[in-house]
Amino acid sequence: MDVTWGSAEAVLADNWIGASTVPSRGLYPHQWSWDSAFIAFGLRHLAPERARRELVTLFSAQWRDGRVPHILFNPDTPPEAYFPGPAFWRAGRTSGLIQPPVHARAVLAVHRADPAGSGAETFLATLYPKLKAWHGYLRTYRDAGGRGLASIVHPWESGMDNSPAWDGPLSRVTPVDPAGFVRRDLEHGHAADRPSDEDYGRYVRLASAYRDCGYLDERWADVDGGFTVEDPGLNALLADAELALAEIADVLGLPAAAATHRESAARVAKALQETLWDSASGFFFARDVRTGERTREYTCAGLLPLVLPDLAVAPALVATATGPRFRLGEVHGVPSYDLTAADFDPGRYWRGPSWFNVGWLVRRGLLHHGEHALAAWLRDDLVETATGTGFAEYADPFTGTGHGARSFGWTAALTVDLMS
Ligand code: DGY
Repeated sequence: MDVTWGSAEAVLADNWIGASTVPSRGLYPHQWSWDSAFIAFGLRHLAPERARRELVTLFSAQWRDGRVPHILFNPDTPPEAYFPGPAFWRAGRTSGLIQPPVHARAVLAVHRADPAGSGAETFLATLYPKLKAWHGYLRTYRDAGGRGLASIVHPWESGMDNSPAWDGPLSRVTPVDPAGFVRRDLEHGHAADRPSDEDYGRYVRLASAYRDCGYLDERWADVDGGFTVEDPGLNALLADAELALAEIADVLGLPAAAATHRESAARVAKALQETLWDSASGFFFARDVRTGERTREYTCAGLLPLVLPDLAVAPALVATATGPRFRLGEVHGVPSYDLTAADFDPGRYWRGPSWFNVGWLVRRGLLHHGEHALAAWLRDDLVETATGTGFAEYADPFTGTGHGARSFGWTAALTVDLMS
């Protein structure tokens, strides 16, 4: 057996907690929503029944309004291991926020890896209505801007917590006094690799405000000092998820439903291009719904629309990706932030380092748009960097040095997927 494959498999075995996988034993000791989807892409090659279990477990925590919570807490993990835990959220065994909708694509891939096992467990038929309700939640409750795009109400919902794109909208949020809570993340990660205390104070303020309005999106617009942003990454992944749902409906013999999902994907993709694309810059920027202003930071979320096969502006976006801001094909992976920005930081979370899930998504996009040589280069680079860093959470784009957690779940899983 290949050493890389074997060590990635060992990470996934160590992080398995019986019905799901923790992203990291120390830093993230529960189940996280988009982590689980990425992890399932790898698990399907190793143990398809575990990949199915991973996703079924996550959807067992779905809320009645359709949202899939961003954390499903493990009752066996001591409360002091992670902040903010269940006592903070007051939402039973979950948080009240969401993460990007990469699940439909994962469900389809997991089904295809083992159609017989999936059929025997009625995996697709069980998850199809849940995925439909999840996308329905995003397309209705979260369409705060009224333009057919889903909004996030907290930076954690983008999955890219301290992305510089959130600095503008976050500046209106008053941080909670750091003495009022204990950051458990700093017990496992270097402070220089993690969000600042000031950012954390703002995350806590926003999460408590959303909790205190009962997680009711219709009330959120009236909450002063709130955060409501249209993120190009999340919306691109939503359009892609609707395309995956159409394929799932086809497999289930539901052609009319499949056509509806394709129309919905086209609507989201059109709104994305009309609202968030800036042709002069050749880039997708986030939009602050509360001010109507587009942010101006070039972050990796703006490259994620490449996952859409019919993206008319793909050549211009690839040009930005390979230009001086991201230097795709020259540096390691896909930097999370503009390499030319004065505040680019190669080690701090989403303010510069390259993340493996983003690299994996961008590679998929490159394949859609005929960039086969670049996609092959990125694949080799991701596998080499993941292995060389002990499956780090993220890496310095210039040196390939690992940062954040090691033995990180999706880094190991996506490495297995890239090698398959
Ligand atoms: C964290 O705890 O850092 C997460 O990103 C929030 O979900």
